[in-house]
Amino acid sequence: MKKKVVGIMLCAAMTAAVMAGCSSKETAAEAPAETEALEEETEEEAPAEAEEEKEASEESAGGTLIMATNAYFEPYEYYEGDQIVGIDVEMANAVAQKLGMELKVEDMEFDSIIPAVNSGKADIGVAGMTVTEDRLANVRFTKPYTTATQVIIVQEGSEIAGKDDLSGKTIGVQLGTTGDIFASDIENVSIEQYNKGMDAVQALTTGKIDAVIIDNEPAKQFVSKAEGLKILEEEFVTEAYAIALAKDNEELLEKINTALDELTADGTIQGIIDKYITAE
Ligand code: ARG
Repeated sequence: MKKKVVGIMLCAAMTAAVMAGCSSKETAAEAPAETEALEEETEEEAPAEAEEEKEASEESAGGTLIMATNAYFEPYEYYEGDQIVGIDVEMANAVAQKLGMELKVEDMEFDSIIPAVNSGKADIGVAGMTVTEDRLANVRFTKPYTTATQVIIVQEGSEIAGKDDLSGKTIGVQLGTTGDIFASDIENVSIEQYNKGMDAVQALTTGKIDAVIIDNEPAKQFVSKAEGLKILEEEFVTEAYAIALAKDNEELLEKINTALDELTADGTIQGIIDKYITAE
């Protein structure tokens, strides 16, 4: 219980940071057009000449920035043909550009991302990943770049109207996610863990399970692609999404935080988000 409260406070603090950093949707509405230009723009001031002064930063100057993700989480990361696209990919690309690096995206199971970052197989984990206290024991997180919340998806005719009606029901989640943790905190429910959120949603469509708990924006995407499902309106705690790095990767963490500050200040991040998420 105590742990949960600390987690919530942590998220609240993160949320405040995000909110302070990002302008509201309405005010940033003109931004999206700029992101296209940004994609084409190659950072010409690449690092090669910086030898003398910047010895310390040399190892991450140039080269490849490997991003671990789980690409079944539209609008943050998903396949368009054989290309992985989405908010996280575009944001990570913008960060890589600032660092003079080339982004390489590696798709894997969600619960392999933190191990990949820790073993050095990947430099960053970017997967709509929520900052949680448990994860902070294993990885470091950059500043948050956006926020989200968990939602409950049910069949249109369901008698479930909120979290309190879930007792005795079967809930589907994506393995190892905050939705999974959220569900495990509810009393008297059985939980089905799926590798992909969409698999949980499919099981809900066929009536195999009674509800799905998952992040709000992917939930909208899944529901729009399925038949006869709805999202309950009940609101839960706000979560902060951030980029995960290995604990000893202090130098890269600082560079990415600086890049995120710049990309927030100039509206790039909000522009990317607005390109994928249209305000209701
Ligand atoms: N925000 C949730 C979490 O951090 C779910 C993230 C799932 N992301 C994904 N790319 N499948 O646990």
